[in-house]
Amino acid sequence: MADLSIEFCGIKSINPFWLASAPPTDKAYNVVRAFEAGWGGVVWKTLGEDPAAVNVSSRYSAHYGKNREVLGFNNIELITDRSLAINLQEITQVKKDWPDRVIIVSLMLPCEERLWADILPLVEATGADGIELNFGCPHGMPERGMGAAVGQVPEYVEMVTRWCKQNTKLPVIVKLTPNITDVRAPARAAKAGGADAVSLINTINSITHLDLDQMVAFPIVGGASTHGGYCGSAVKPIALNMVAEIARDPQTAGLPISGIGGIGNWRDAAEFIALGSGCVQVCTAAMLHGFRIVEEMKDGLSRWMDQKGYQSISEFSGKAVPNTTDWKYLNMNYQVIAQINQDDCIKCGRCYVACEDTSHQSIAQLIDEVSGARTYEVIKEECVGCNLCEITCPVQGCITMVPQDTGKPYMNWTQDPRNPRAEKAVEAA
Ligand SMILES: Cc1cc2nc3c(=O)[nH]c(=O)nc-3n(C[C@H](O)[C@H](O)[C@H](O)COP(=O)(O)O)c2cc1C
Ligand code: SF4
Ligand code: SF4
Repeated sequence: MADLSIEFCGIKSINPFWLASAPPTDKAYNVVRAFEAGWGGVVWKTLGEDPAAVNVSSRYSAHYGKNREVLGFNNIELITDRSLAINLQEITQVKKDWPDRVIIVSLMLPCEERLWADILPLVEATGADGIELNFGCPHGMPERGMGAAVGQVPEYVEMVTRWCKQNTKLPVIVKLTPNITDVRAPARAAKAGGADAVSLINTINSITHLDLDQMVAFPIVGGASTHGGYCGSAVKPIALNMVAEIARDPQTAGLPISGIGGIGNWRDAAEFIALGSGCVQVCTAAMLHGFRIVEEMKDGLSRWMDQKGYQSISEFSGKAVPNTTDWKYLNMNYQVIAQINQDDCIKCGRCYVACEDTSHQSIAQLIDEVSGARTYEVIKEECVGCNLCEITCPVQGCITMVPQDTGKPYMNWTQDPRNPRAEKAVEAA
């Protein structure tokens, strides 16, 4: 049986599944039930200075798929709306009652060293395992000079991280905002400030949809709205890329990463771990489906690890990082071609329309003169292997992309004679 336990920047956890700082972790009542359900740890809902933040009503909106499944989730909530004293008291009690579970305390304060120096001993006294610096909240708090307003300026990230390192012995995790052009800059700054780890992503600036009668976006507060923070399944591809960017950056190599963003099942978690995360955090999926989703995550991950022969998380953490490279190092001589399995094909013609209208006119629509029946066949010589037909086909596995034996050796763009600005030939990094 695979061992799901981890050690993340010196913090031991019974499994890699933590709840992210958000409503699921905003009070003892929730956190205790999360631990009962099997979560390995939580990052407590962000604490700040008193008086506590005040929230508006309403607060959430969603981007729906055709069947009303929630693809993305948007919120305009602030940090905790409960007093510092109550939060610290509850953290102390829960940590005492659940010593084998991880509690990280998320913090957000103005950029004044004294404020950070004052709060850190109070957090340490709770017995918490570490702190996470919320440099990511994209709404409300940046207007007050906090959250993403800090995370978007690498010099501030480094400065506040350093203050924390100087004022606490607890591990310091820096939570990064995705609302930035190059996420490697704040990650490097966090490392320079002495961070023990980074976590990402926080939410992405968003407006999900509008009420076209009232001419206002959701969520509506009175007759107005404001941009919120986007999360949930839709942000997973963006988060995965940002995690990979940091994992493969030589300047942040080895810096532990806690992966966050759209994780809803064991496979999502495995992907974040394979791209360099040492643990993962979940928010939206728990908000939509409840704490018990962790059961599927633990079972699924451990079954898959058994199947693959991985005995521990560290055996596959980062294993996909060396296979993630710059475009210029991809093999120009690699070739795949679409293949339609006629037995599975339902003759819907979607692949034909897609390839005919927007790709390479590489699928033939053959109409039987007598019966009028249609069949679809790939014109191998024309197919460039773009994957569009495979993506658009409604029958999973009906179209497969088959690698061709070109007989040609590996050659990347820096080595390609067609490159008009040929650089000195270099092997993949
Ligand atoms: C309603 C709501 C409130 C949140 N509050 C916080 C917060 O107080 N501090 C924080 O660091 N992140 C906060 N987040 C961001 C989450 O911790 C997480 O980074 C983000 O939702 C992406 O993960 P997900 O796709 O699993 O939801 C909040 C998210 C939501 C949906
Ligand atoms: S892979 Fe692209 S080019 Fe080839 S048949 Fe499909 S859509 Fe057309
Ligand atoms: S999209 Fe798929 S099912 Fe539809 S015609 Fe093409 S191969 Fe057949």
